[in-house]
Amino acid sequence: MTAPIRENLSGLDLRAEIERLRKERNAVILAHYYQKPEIQDLADFVGDSLELSRKAADTDADVIAFCGVKFMAETAKILSPQKTVILPDMDAGCSLEDSCPPEQFKRFREAHPDHIALTYINCSAAVKALSDIIVTSSSAETIISQIPESQKIIFGPDRHLGGYLNRKFGREMLLWPGVCIVHEAFSETELLKLKAQHPGAPVAAHPECPPHIVDHADYVGSTSGILQFAKSFPGDTLIVATEPHIIHQMELALPEKTFIGAPGADGNCNCNICPYMALNTMEKLYLALRDLKPQIEMEEGLRLATRKSLDRMLEMASGTVGKGDLGRA
Ligand code: 13P
Ligand code: SF4
Repeated sequence: MTAPIRENLSGLDLRAEIERLRKERNAVILAHYYQKPEIQDLADFVGDSLELSRKAADTDADVIAFCGVKFMAETAKILSPQKTVILPDMDAGCSLEDSCPPEQFKRFREAHPDHIALTYINCSAAVKALSDIIVTSSSAETIISQIPESQKIIFGPDRHLGGYLNRKFGREMLLWPGVCIVHEAFSETELLKLKAQHPGAPVAAHPECPPHIVDHADYVGSTSGILQFAKSFPGDTLIVATEPHIIHQMELALPEKTFIGAPGADGNCNCNICPYMALNTMEKLYLALRDLKPQIEMEEGLRLATRKSLDRMLEMASGTVGKGDLGRA
């Protein structure tokens, strides 16, 4: 359970205090697109999982304040072990990570010794260490297209992203049965009603959505891909089937256009707000920068074991690995 904030912070100008601490600590604030707008607005960088990993690897800051979920902050620590990485709320987890306990994943791997493990970044460090190549939603297509068709693959933990890749690339990857509780909550019936109310409005969906949502999408891609689509589609209204906080960036970039979050089963899209991302608040970010905790700690052996699969992703995502260079790590 998340510890309640016991101090009275009501008299503080949190934005100014965060600004002061950012300079004092030589900190960089990274935020995922699913963070609350006030956090996105003060971040040094807002991005998707791949972009945030790259930023984490590149920054010269002493402290990375990661406004996202734990597996993202862990990735920052894996790539920058000498830096202090803080996560405003250590309970900011992910249902995909929870669905994939390392021991069970290990047994899954062992049952398929002729398969490589292609693993979505939304998983624990221990599962990354058991994997050959990590993918994010923005790197998955580039990476899978570099893997020879004869190579058997297990894919975890998101069965919807894995299923989408199977359909798109004609692969038969064996899928771990995890789902994102947020993308799973979109309702096809409500989406069809919304489409009927806005004829002509395209639908952009994240590949974590189940097939009955993705099948109605005009564009399927990562958060940054969806944002790019929002900037390029010719119409004036877009239906967005991913966590609705991303709409903040769309409204900043395109104030003249209308962005509508796809609804959940009750027609109300609150169930599509990621409850883990929502744990990060301005108060907790301020306290984390002030006290330098909670900090991501990782045992060095585990960190080194994760590097190979993560480095492979970073290399392959930038096209520096050739087709013949793949296989089990
Ligand atoms: P992106 O890499 O597309 O930002 O996805 C991260 C995520 O957790 C989506 O639910
Ligand atoms: Fe995990 Fe889904 Fe939240 Fe993304 S939106 S962090 S996949 S629970």
